[in-house]
Amino acid sequence: MAKIRMAKMNDAIEPATEYPLQAVGSPVLSVVVPTFNERDNVAVLYQRLETALAGLPWEVVFVDDDSPDGTWEVVRGLAQQDRRVRCIRRVGRRGLSGACIEGILASSAPYVAVIDADMQHDETQLPKMVELLRSGQAELVVGSRYIEGYRTEGFNKQRAGASAFATEIARRGLRIDIADPMSGFFAMRRERFEQLAPQLSTQGFKILLDVVASAHGRLRTVEIPYTFGARQHGESKLDSMVALDFLGLVLAKLTHDVISLRFVLFGMVGSLGLLVHLAALYIALKLFHAPFAEAQATGAIVAMTSNFILNNFLTYRDQRLKGLAILRGLILFYLVCSVGLLANVGVAFSVYDHEPIWWLAGAAGALMGVVWNYAMSGLFVWRKR
Ligand code: GDD
Ligand code: MN
Repeated sequence: MAKIRMAKMNDAIEPATEYPLQAVGSPVLSVVVPTFNERDNVAVLYQRLETALAGLPWEVVFVDDDSPDGTWEVVRGLAQQDRRVRCIRRVGRRGLSGACIEGILASSAPYVAVIDADMQHDETQLPKMVELLRSGQAELVVGSRYIEGYRTEGFNKQRAGASAFATEIARRGLRIDIADPMSGFFAMRRERFEQLAPQLSTQGFKILLDVVASAHGRLRTVEIPYTFGARQHGESKLDSMVALDFLGLVLAKLTHDVISLRFVLFGMVGSLGLLVHLAALYIALKLFHAPFAEAQATGAIVAMTSNFILNNFLTYRDQRLKGLAILRGLILFYLVCSVGLLANVGVAFSVYDHEPIWWLAGAAGALMGVVWNYAMSGLFVWRKR
């Protein structure tokens, strides 16, 4: 049971509690639950928390990204009956990491835990996690799927493979020393989280890796194994692409945030675009006997269109444009790329003027073009709301 009491003026004889501002009855543990379409799971989880955390003052903050299935309505209902329950309904935003960060920062217990809404994580581990934090043995406790005693029921083969690979890269590349840095189940001291919060990325799902990497090995960490169960209701929102996201964070951290995965993907799509352009040019010339200028223009339009589609599906998949916004985005993308082409040719010409080495001038122009397109696409086409 938690040792909390109100700090009174006249009881100086008693030893000071660790968190003197803690009032009687205020929570020792804030549980943060990111949700997206978890309507059928939230009430079950709430009940399980109540059982698992009996005897410990706790609260739970659900952070829902405006789920179409109305998860937030269900949480509101729970909150009306129990003041320990709160709901943050985020509108116009998506992302597991961002949701966790917001939930943690919106709560105030000295210890915070993050857990999935779908009962895949084992909430009965929470008291043990809090104990490890309270005793000072750990500042971070990770529920780990990969250490001894590890067994998974709810993980498909493909994802397990991608996940193991990305974990290995993170462990070697960033010298991250925990078995399961992709885990979405962990608890930590609020104080430590608040220190690291400004460095954390709100994109993607890899909040734990981000926390550990940002702490540069200065976070006392204990791992506890648990059984990753099967999902109760609904479906997973994460796919094999999460491994890509994860590698992106590793890349960014390794290069001290100089190179982002987005930029790498954007560059890859651009390179592929060159092939698409040449193929379209060839078809227009040979199959349709188009004059060169028209064939070249056709190639450019086909390449820009395919680049746009690929970027929308891959590079900016977290901000994917849908419906009519696609058309608007495509037109903006054409504009951005056209100016990019001018910038490309301009730079190439001036380099060539200075130093008539064709490949150097060509590469300088291309680099200018891709940097321009990337910067402007982020500003105008896949603009953050
Ligand atoms: N607010 C919010 N916004 N919540 C989200 C979002 C989002 O964009 N995407 C997913 N969630 C919520 C889900 O509703 C769920 O409660 C939790 O985050 C995890 O999502 P799942 O869809 O259940 O992920 P999973 O079980 O396939 O993934 C597991 O492995 C990941 C690492 O590989 C989980 O353990 C994750 O926590 C873990 O990061
Ligand atoms: Mn899950």
